[in-house]
Amino acid sequence: MKKITVIGSMSIDLVVSASKRPGKGETILGDDFFTTPGGKGANQAVAAARLGDNVHMIGRVGDDDFGKEIYENLQKNHVIVDGVEPVTQMPSGTAHITLSEQDNSIIVVPSANNEVTPDYVKKHLEALSEGDIVLLQQEIPSETVEFAVKYCSEHGLISILNPAPYREVSNTVIEKVDYLTPNETESDEMFKGELDEALAAYPMKLIVTLGDKGAAYHNGKEKVQVPGYKREVKDTTGAGDTFNGAFAVALQKEYSLDQALAFANLAASHSVTGLGAQGGMPTLQDIEGEWHV
Ligand code: RIB
Repeated sequence: MKKITVIGSMSIDLVVSASKRPGKGETILGDDFFTTPGGKGANQAVAAARLGDNVHMIGRVGDDDFGKEIYENLQKNHVIVDGVEPVTQMPSGTAHITLSEQDNSIIVVPSANNEVTPDYVKKHLEALSEGDIVLLQQEIPSETVEFAVKYCSEHGLISILNPAPYREVSNTVIEKVDYLTPNETESDEMFKGELDEALAAYPMKLIVTLGDKGAAYHNGKEKVQVPGYKREVKDTTGAGDTFNGAFAVALQKEYSLDQALAFANLAASHSVTGLGAQGGMPTLQDIEGEWHV
C-alpha cells in the first residue's frame, strides 16, 4: 500500500468562544476556553489516519509539554511518528483561535514548525518510493515546500499542496505540484481572477474547495463541481484539513478524481459537527452508511 506522508505544522490550539470578536482596543468576556491538538499538518495526518492506513508525519515540536501532547495525540490516532523530532531551542507551535458567529479567526505562532527545514525533510523523504503520496500546507517555511514539491516531481511521488494559510506560491511550485487545493479565498489571492479561468488554466490539478457547496476542478473539457453536504455547524476549524487528509486517502485507494472529491467532501462535512479541529474528523465507520464507491 502506498504511503501517505504529511509534511507540515503541528500545534496546540488555544480556543476561545465568544458572542462576537473584540474590536481594536476592546476587551470582551468570552463564553468558553479549551486547548486541543491542531496545526494544519497534524490535522491532515490525523484526518488521513482515521480514514486510511500507512500515514506518516514529518514535522517538529518543542521539547515541552505541548510537544509531548502533540506527539502522543498523533500516536493515539495511529499516525506513524518516525519523522517527528523535538527541538530544544524553541517552544511548540500554538494557534490562537476565536470561535464566533459560526466561523473562526486564527493567529498561528509557528515556533518549532519553522525548524521543518529542507535538510530536515530530505532524510525522511528519501525513505519514500515511487507513487507514494506527499501532502503539504503553508505553516512551515516556504523553502521547505519548494524543496519537497521539487523532490516529489523528480522522484515520482504524488504531491498535494494545500496553500493555506495563503502566501505567495512560486510558478515552479504551481507547475511541479500534482494537486493544488486552495479554498475560494486562497484561489482568488493566488490567481487574481475568475475562478472558472483559473480552473481551466490548471485542469486536473487545481481543486478549489467551496465549503458545503463541495469542490470544483476542470477536467480538460469542462468545469466539474462535485457537490458537498449541508450539516449543522458546531465548529468549522479543521474542515479544510479533513478534506485534504481524506483526499490523500482517496488517492491511496486509487479512486477517480470525482470519487476522491466526493469522499473528501463527505469527510469534511462530518468534521464541522464536532468541536476542535480534530473533534469531528470521521473514521471510516462514521461515514460508511453514506459512502458507496
Ligand atoms: O486548519 C485549522 C488549523 O489552523 C488549526 O488547528 C490551527 O492550528 C491552525 O493552524
